[in-house]
Amino acid sequence: MYFYRFFLPAQVGTAYFRYKKLQDTAVKTYIVRCFSRSVIILEKFFIRGGIPLKGTVYVSGAKNAAVALVAATILCDEPCTLENVPAISDITKCLDILRGMGAVVRMERDGVIFIDPRSISTTEVPYKQAVTMRASSYFLGTLLGKFHEAFVPMPGGCDLGDRPIDQHLKAFRALGASDEVVRGANYVKADKLVGNQIYFDFVTVGATMNAIFAAVKAKGQTIIENAAKEPHIVDVANFLNSMGADIRGAGTDVIKIRGVDYLHGTTYATIPDQIEAGTYMVAAAATKGDVVIANVIPKHLESITAKLRKCGVNVEESDESVRVWVDKPLLNTTVKTQPHPGFPTDMQPQFSTLLTIASGTSRVTEEIFNNRFRYVAELRKMGADISIEGGKVAIIEGVDHLSGAPVQATDLRAGAALVIAGLAADGLTEIENIHYIQRGYERIDEKLQRLGADITRLTVPDNDSVEMSG
Ligand code: EPU
Repeated sequence: MYFYRFFLPAQVGTAYFRYKKLQDTAVKTYIVRCFSRSVIILEKFFIRGGIPLKGTVYVSGAKNAAVALVAATILCDEPCTLENVPAISDITKCLDILRGMGAVVRMERDGVIFIDPRSISTTEVPYKQAVTMRASSYFLGTLLGKFHEAFVPMPGGCDLGDRPIDQHLKAFRALGASDEVVRGANYVKADKLVGNQIYFDFVTVGATMNAIFAAVKAKGQTIIENAAKEPHIVDVANFLNSMGADIRGAGTDVIKIRGVDYLHGTTYATIPDQIEAGTYMVAAAATKGDVVIANVIPKHLESITAKLRKCGVNVEESDESVRVWVDKPLLNTTVKTQPHPGFPTDMQPQFSTLLTIASGTSRVTEEIFNNRFRYVAELRKMGADISIEGGKVAIIEGVDHLSGAPVQATDLRAGAALVIAGLAADGLTEIENIHYIQRGYERIDEKLQRLGADITRLTVPDNDSVEMSG
């Protein structure tokens, strides 16, 4: 403490004086990097666990719908207004992409964003935001659909294993586009887009979205078979239909799209976040609390509700909320992730965390991604008994309790799982890399505090960070 308060300012002052005198910009940049690494400011969550959550939590707009809606505004020929947009970093990046391409983007008030895409002057997506986010791939479909051309750096996103876009490209090709990789980016182009039959080899959310985007203004009819049925697919179809598109069958595995020439402006509200809701449901159960999760569509939560009930958790559904409470010991169960309406892969880490403190042996099978168990090593630090079989199945032996520990979020949902573990554990849990969590959860610390949780977001100097290698 003494070091940072007294010594550091003097040292920084001298260093800054020397830095100002330097001419070489590259050296300056290097110094800034070194400086920010050595006194880097980290945000962490500190959670003192063991408090049952109680009260009501309001769920925000769905991340995976909103990122697609923002990209879809490009297809519109007039301004649009999006409502119930969550304040999360993935949305900030999507909006920065739009701004970077020339669109007018204005925050009207909390969660309400005005977007005028008419001033977009390029079909090239800025590199910086694209490479950190999976949703940047949606700009391939929307730019292609609108301008018949798109240049999008390879999409990033959570590291959950291999995440190719072959099915996206298959859809674009079916509509008449060509594609190549140029300077590390996907470049797609078409003289004209013509409706066609698209059959996906397996169910994919991203490729279904992109097929819709590319087809919505194509000539004639497109039929997408083996389409994803997630609520966010339906939301995007509803949004485009509210602009005058002709999309039928979204929410089933066959989507039919008749291309239209013009899409008019609209005002549209994003659906509530099914995964954020599910995360609070599991947090309520893991802390043996009693929580009303409000502003939800209970139908979207059915697979999560069913599994919670199997574990002995009470779930009561109302029109726009669910109440979750626990009055007996948690029971083990089996979970297998599946495309919607199956159990969502985005709830797998959180649910596995709950099962670490349920009696008996549980089995969790991950069917969507080939590397979504990286959080297991972190849960083991807290006393969880989990083994992984063949990279795909987690065998979880329930333990009596978890113990607080310093842990690191390895991706968005893994981070949410560690928050749940910290809330349920005895003692103090310190979570690093919380920027992952902020990608998809709006003000999670504040929402949990209102439920009585002892969670604090602290900015700390990274004076003891450890470089990992090997
Ligand atoms: N896949 C391919 N080729 C493709 C497309 C997908 O092999 O062309 C594979 C993927 O590698 C994966 C599986 O198919 O193994 C399913 O991928 P999908 O396309 O359905 O997923 P995505 O579009 O990349 C979205 C969400 C994910 C969510 C999945 C599954 C967004 C921005 N991302 O990803 O969300 O897990 O659908 O529901 O919508 C999250 O929110 O934490 C998250 C990772």
